[in-house]
Amino acid sequence: MAKKSATKLSEPTDAQSQESALSDSVVMQSPPAEVRYRDELRLLAEIDDSHRPVGWMLSPQAVVDFICGTDGQRIGTSKSKSLVIEEKFLGPRDIIQRCVVTLAGERGLLLVGEPGTAKSMLGELLAVAISGTSALTIQGTAGTTEDQIRYGWNYAMLLDRGPTPEALVASPVMQAMKGGKLVRFEEVTRCLPEVQDGLISILSERRLMVPELGGIDSSVFASPGFNVIATANLRDRGVSEMSAALKRRFNFETIAPIADADREVELVSRRAAAILAEGGPAPAVDKALVELLVTVFRDLRSGRTSEGWQVQQPSTVMSTAEAVAITTAIHREGVFFPSGFDPVSRLPGHLLGVVMKDDSKDRERLLGYWDGAVRRRADNGAFLWKRLVELRATLEG
Ligand SMILES: Nc1ncnc2c1ncn2[C@@H]1O[C@H](COP(=O)(O)OP(=O)(O)OP(=O)(O)O)[C@@H](O)[C@H]1O
Ligand SMILES: [Mg+2]
Repeated sequence: MAKKSATKLSEPTDAQSQESALSDSVVMQSPPAEVRYRDELRLLAEIDDSHRPVGWMLSPQAVVDFICGTDGQRIGTSKSKSLVIEEKFLGPRDIIQRCVVTLAGERGLLLVGEPGTAKSMLGELLAVAISGTSALTIQGTAGTTEDQIRYGWNYAMLLDRGPTPEALVASPVMQAMKGGKLVRFEEVTRCLPEVQDGLISILSERRLMVPELGGIDSSVFASPGFNVIATANLRDRGVSEMSAALKRRFNFETIAPIADADREVELVSRRAAAILAEGGPAPAVDKALVELLVTVFRDLRSGRTSEGWQVQQPSTVMSTAEAVAITTAIHREGVFFPSGFDPVSRLPGHLLGVVMKDDSKDRERLLGYWDGAVRRRADNGAFLWKRLVELRATLEG
């Protein structure tokens, strides 16, 4: 494998809260969006002369352009200072417009959907485009406490001097309120409902009480620009347990899997190529393999093939993110072990790894798909599908 190419930051980011963390010498395995898209963000900020809501780094139109791209058009004032803004989220532009409108308003934004539909990616991109940083984030888990949403204390200082503003440890929510920024709350529904409800007063009153401090320090008021982007996965623990009071404080946007097969193939190829390139010179992504893989994923995800044949759906989610992971793994395997490497032969094993997560019946469902749709396509003479039929034994375990 070629030497790992490092992402070096040559100039400091303009995201104030990240300034020290993202210094010139930092080498990152997976750079955050503010680093990856720094040139695009700078250029957009430079040429954006539309109205920006108070506290926003870009105008609403520029935020949407940053996320949805400029359709291959270069933007900028001169050749040396112009760029095509890459399409980052594949999906209806009006969803992004609605997200942007919500974030400029009085309610939070809740992105819901199946796993791997780019909810977190979208949250990160919105936060970066609007606030310049994606770092103000809470990862919701079953163990998240209210302190992690509100504030905690430096106990040594608290014991020494009592409750003072210096002893207070601000949560990402409190930091976002003070700085007028967006805070991301990932997987909010994985937290206990009573912990989630800590957000109710923050979202409605835009104020966080610190009764221990007393006087003027006892309230933190949100600066303009503050809002919450939460994500919720419909599989792990849906939104059903979220209180009605909290639901009313969010606008919901449902993010669906990529509708168009060709666009999904294009995205999977592009993402896999980008991930492989992070490891140094990378092999070209095999388009036929990606088409085959994405077709299998879409058949199993929807329970129906493009020919109209019924397919038994496995209980696992066949997400685009998983398709990217398999494509990357197969190509990486080809780089590590090139001798006699046959990419299609690796596909059934990887598919089984995705499908067999919770339910042992999923293996039978996959075999049923093989004996139905895969065989019918092979019988119609499709070469790669014939190869898959020959590889059926790999699935039998
Ligand atoms: N519509 C899409 N546009 C662009 N990329 C997508 C899209 N759908 C999936 N992806 C790919 O899937 C990856 C994973 O997305 P992400 O982790 O944001 O999903 P998620 O919805 O937050 O999943 P989870 O519910 O498991 O947390 C993205 O980085 C991207 O490569
Ligand atoms: Mg996520």
